[in-house]
Amino acid sequence: MKIETLIAQKAVIAIKELYGQEIDAATVQVQKTKREFEGHLTIVVFPYLKMSRKGPEQTATEIGTWLRENVEEISSYNVIKGFLNLVISSSVWVDMLNGINADENYGFRSATDDSPLVMIEYSSPNTNKPLHLGHVRNNLLGGALANIMAANGYKVVKTNIVNDRGIHICKSMLAWLKWGNGATPESTGKKGDHLIGDYYVEFDKHFRAEVKSLLPANYSELDEKAQEEAKAKAEKESPLMQEAHAMLVKWEAGDPEVRALWERMNNWVYAGFDETYRRLGVSFDKIYYESQTYLEGKKTVMEGLEKGLFFRKEDGSVWADLTQNGLDQKLLLRSDGTSVYMTQDIGTAQLRFRDYPIDRMIYVVGNEQNYHFQVLSILLDRLGFKWGKDLVHFSYGMVELPEGKMKSREGTVVDADDLMDEMIATARATSAELGKLDGLSKEETDEIMRIVGMGALKYFILKVDARKNMTFNPKESIDFNGNTGPFIQYTYARIRSIMRKAADEGIKLNSNLYADDKSQISEKELGLIQMLIGFQDVVRQAADDYNPSVIANYCYDLAKEFNQFYHDFSIMHEPTRELKMFRLVLAQNVGKILKLGTGLLGIEVPERM
Ligand code: ARG
Repeated sequence: MKIETLIAQKAVIAIKELYGQEIDAATVQVQKTKREFEGHLTIVVFPYLKMSRKGPEQTATEIGTWLRENVEEISSYNVIKGFLNLVISSSVWVDMLNGINADENYGFRSATDDSPLVMIEYSSPNTNKPLHLGHVRNNLLGGALANIMAANGYKVVKTNIVNDRGIHICKSMLAWLKWGNGATPESTGKKGDHLIGDYYVEFDKHFRAEVKSLLPANYSELDEKAQEEAKAKAEKESPLMQEAHAMLVKWEAGDPEVRALWERMNNWVYAGFDETYRRLGVSFDKIYYESQTYLEGKKTVMEGLEKGLFFRKEDGSVWADLTQNGLDQKLLLRSDGTSVYMTQDIGTAQLRFRDYPIDRMIYVVGNEQNYHFQVLSILLDRLGFKWGKDLVHFSYGMVELPEGKMKSREGTVVDADDLMDEMIATARATSAELGKLDGLSKEETDEIMRIVGMGALKYFILKVDARKNMTFNPKESIDFNGNTGPFIQYTYARIRSIMRKAADEGIKLNSNLYADDKSQISEKELGLIQMLIGFQDVVRQAADDYNPSVIANYCYDLAKEFNQFYHDFSIMHEPTRELKMFRLVLAQNVGKILKLGTGLLGIEVPERM
């Protein structure tokens, strides 16, 4: 039983005996005692003043006296205003530490046959360009969320929808045909996704030049509105754009040549994505492709139309009327019968639902698509998906570099692969400065630098509330003394080094600690144990709020607290064996919880650094 629960239950009896009143244990407010006061847990007594008909101080004192006399776990109390601060006896904390020590996966729950199934979609790239910084945030959030839900006993299916068809990929294909001279990833030594991205940029370059040449001679003299119109006309007339559209029509008709090229080029992209995913440490249980779902979407929309859920306009286009939901009308199929972004999402949902008994669906997608998912939820509900109404759009904010905004159109995006390389290089430079890795082999050093560089990146992004826009600062993220991944990793490595020393001295850590004298255990140590116990609540909260950042910040606080402890107290030099054992077990479990916590965020921890 949680100590808070025990205290609440005893408080119920105290109030019954002292004031003859019945209260519910769930309503008793038991909080962690504020740092500046003595004690571990605090009961707020204000709600009981009506029952005691006495002032707050006196009421708290009466309840405190009763508890101290009747509850062996409470060793003393003090009263500050209406707050009753309770000191819990050391043996209770030590017992709890023993409990944590015995549980390899403390704080985690495993799924059972009747656990709900949560499907989490994340990443979901288009195939015309490589992954960028925005995708990095997406993948890290999605991966962390999946780990967190699994640690809370949900069945989790990680999924991805790859938008592999449409005008964007036709543009890359066309540019490659025109200007690629048969270049392949092998012939150029380029990652496939980068190669395709280059042709997308190439298309855009030629297209812009073409549009410029098609503008009327007097363009610069036109007013703003006329300029806009002239530009739109030129874009439409652009032979390049028309060719790309013709290619899309051929693709839709299943033209073998276009399809073969499309498949070849997309496969290059997938090989590139796989590499990036592997380095990021994310994976998927099931990947869906728009090319396989969009027809299902059309079918589902047509069925909805027959059922009267949607309506057709005069030009033949199909729409959903959302006015009863306070929104306007939403296009689902164009007049020529072609599908839109929403159509494929309906089809994807249909196939997913057929493949898995989904209880809850979470989409990790940037906040620029808030409206899209609001509408999708309504449409899926209308179509009869049981999770449609309550679908979760895990909506996150934009991420920028200190230099300024990421602009996806102008080709100045921060590429995910480049960013990872840079992080590892920065980790190397920082460690060289600190001279920490002398005496290790090159392979060992490389592996540590990878872990540290990636840890810096992941932690810095995940410590921020996902909804907020943020600036990713590579330098700051790797500061060994800041609120960073490397700081936590360093703390972990430090603990491992202590454990190695203990092992060298032949010390075996058993779990039943400190049976006799506990008077030597300091408040600092009890506080650390109390923090370790709190890990289970943090894991719960991260899932209930869909918020990986609470795990990140908990890990930082724990690492900081441990470092203060380690600064103030010795471990290996402790003369009494019992105290030494106690501190070793405490340190070992801090290490374990740091590893479990960072593991939920997809962050690895090194044995040394
Ligand atoms: N590929 C899309 C884009 O890059 C994001 C897809 C999000 N997921 C979804 N089910 N609509 O904008």
